[in-house]
Amino acid sequence: ADREHTRNFSIIAHIDHGKSTLADRLIQACGAVTDREFQNQLLDNLYLERERGITIKSQAITLPYLAKNGQEYELNLIDTPGHVDFTYEVSRALASCEGVLLIVDASQGVEAQTLANMYLAMEHDLTIVPVINKIDLISADVDATRLQITEDLGLDGDEALAVSAKEGTNIDQVLEAIVNKLPPPKGQAEAPLQALIFDAQYDPYRGTVIFVRVMEGQLKQGDFIRFMHNGSSYRVEEVGLFKLRREPAKALRAGQVGYVIAGVKTVSDVDVGDTITNNDHPAPAPLPGFREAKPVVFSSIYPVATDDYPELAEAIEKLKLNDASLTYQKDYSQALGTGFRCGFLGLLHLEVVQERLEREFGLSLILTAPSVRYQVYLNDGQHLEIENPALFPDPSTIDYCEEPYVKASILMPDRYIGTVMQLCLDRRGEGNVMHYPSPGRVELISELPLAEVIYDFYDKLKTVTQGYGSFDYEFIGDRRTELAKLDILVNGERVDALSMLVFRGGARPRALHAVNKLAETIPRQQFKIAIQGAIGGTIIARSTINAFRKDVTAKCYGGDVSRKRKLLEKQKAGKKRMKLVGNVPIPQKAFLAVLQSD
Ligand code: GTP
Repeated sequence: ADREHTRNFSIIAHIDHGKSTLADRLIQACGAVTDREFQNQLLDNLYLERERGITIKSQAITLPYLAKNGQEYELNLIDTPGHVDFTYEVSRALASCEGVLLIVDASQGVEAQTLANMYLAMEHDLTIVPVINKIDLISADVDATRLQITEDLGLDGDEALAVSAKEGTNIDQVLEAIVNKLPPPKGQAEAPLQALIFDAQYDPYRGTVIFVRVMEGQLKQGDFIRFMHNGSSYRVEEVGLFKLRREPAKALRAGQVGYVIAGVKTVSDVDVGDTITNNDHPAPAPLPGFREAKPVVFSSIYPVATDDYPELAEAIEKLKLNDASLTYQKDYSQALGTGFRCGFLGLLHLEVVQERLEREFGLSLILTAPSVRYQVYLNDGQHLEIENPALFPDPSTIDYCEEPYVKASILMPDRYIGTVMQLCLDRRGEGNVMHYPSPGRVELISELPLAEVIYDFYDKLKTVTQGYGSFDYEFIGDRRTELAKLDILVNGERVDALSMLVFRGGARPRALHAVNKLAETIPRQQFKIAIQGAIGGTIIARSTINAFRKDVTAKCYGGDVSRKRKLLEKQKAGKKRMKLVGNVPIPQKAFLAVLQSD
């Protein structure tokens, strides 16, 4: 389609407000797919996304739409990941659009993520069309939601479309609004090529499929292209549109959204946010807003069974093919053997990787406590970046340390402000500021150490606000801090995989929590087990597991051979989930328990 008849848009919403459901309705309404294909398409989607109800990767689809004015339009829907871990990806997807549908659940109203997403859309100067969803619910309050949209978001609440994505009510109004309210893309097909990369996916047959929005110029088969930030160049093998399947096209012109295949081996060879230009007629400058997607949370992953290491290595390599933001390097622990030190965009990303390794590859894993990356300045002027407790230098050599801080925005009904304020203070929150976006609701801005946020902040927030609090954050830089390395000793032996870097002032409660959790989860033995938390040589917490009074397993050993064999097999399987430290077997669940808060 020509530029005048192209619309590029995205749907943004707070989690669970119905983004995917509305997208599905739009796709069906445009007849882009038959109902049967539609079902299959759903089944093809990464099951994790479906199951958790979270969009993990951006996706795009081109929809042909015959508008009421008789004109044929090409609508490009770019789906965005719906979680704070992926804010940068969201920003690149939004930079590829002219407008957004902003969904607000009629029974929940405006939430923190709605606001955060709207600010992102505003930063990109996008046209925002508010859509009130779930009007079929008995608890829906459309008028109150309109008022909130006007007062909290500063948009025209009266103009908001009222729909039910689930029942398909007023979907035609949404499509007409896309055509009539969103502007067509700008850009000149004759200008030097600038195409924004907003995603990349791995295809085992074709290599990396690059998702682009062409801003200026055009892209076609045979073109010699260059990635302006990473400098590599390739020959274009194929360009095309995202229909149900990839559909090759002659060219992608300014304003269009589509894909490029150019013999790029892995997604790690492509940076989201980079600009593709023509190598022979390059654009003078890349598009703005590029940033390297850097991991912020780190954890070591070990197989429970040491001989599963090759399988783990293979599995991580496979995941990495499609996940450029996952980083890993070989790691060794005395307690747990060989594994990988991995870097993630956030805790959700970590959980997704863990779940995929366990479910898709059938591995049983132990993860160490997630850590952030600390800046360590030594007396001799050296500067280290430390995210692995094992590499923390001797404290006597350290001048000072810094830890990453985030600015958190917490939105809640005002009756919870006292407890939430206390929670932020407990988590070393600074510079707390309150706003009252509308009667009865309050937004608290707090500057918190990232380490406190990844520990259990979100769970605690949900608990103290009975689920009503919502939360979003962004990085604001590193700040001075006091760090200590907390070691855990089992019968006097240090378990390196349980060491963590903690804020010195909060070390004792963390240590107590860890030793108590271990005492609860490590099974009793014939002997007494001492579990201690220590900083340097000083014990700051301890707990004891008492010995069995008598051997309760003795009566199991009967004369029946098959029963005996069964028992032996069971023990063997059980052992696979245990790690021997000295002569104490530590079950996998003990390692997990240490990570969890109460
Ligand atoms: P994330 O991908 O996690 O951001 O969620 P989402 O915003 O895509 O929400 P999704 O479309 O998965 O919908 C969340 C839940 O709301 C699902 O159980 C839907 O069935 C339900 N839902 C979506 N739209 C409607 C609606 O119009 N009415 C009702 N009653 N339920 C809806």
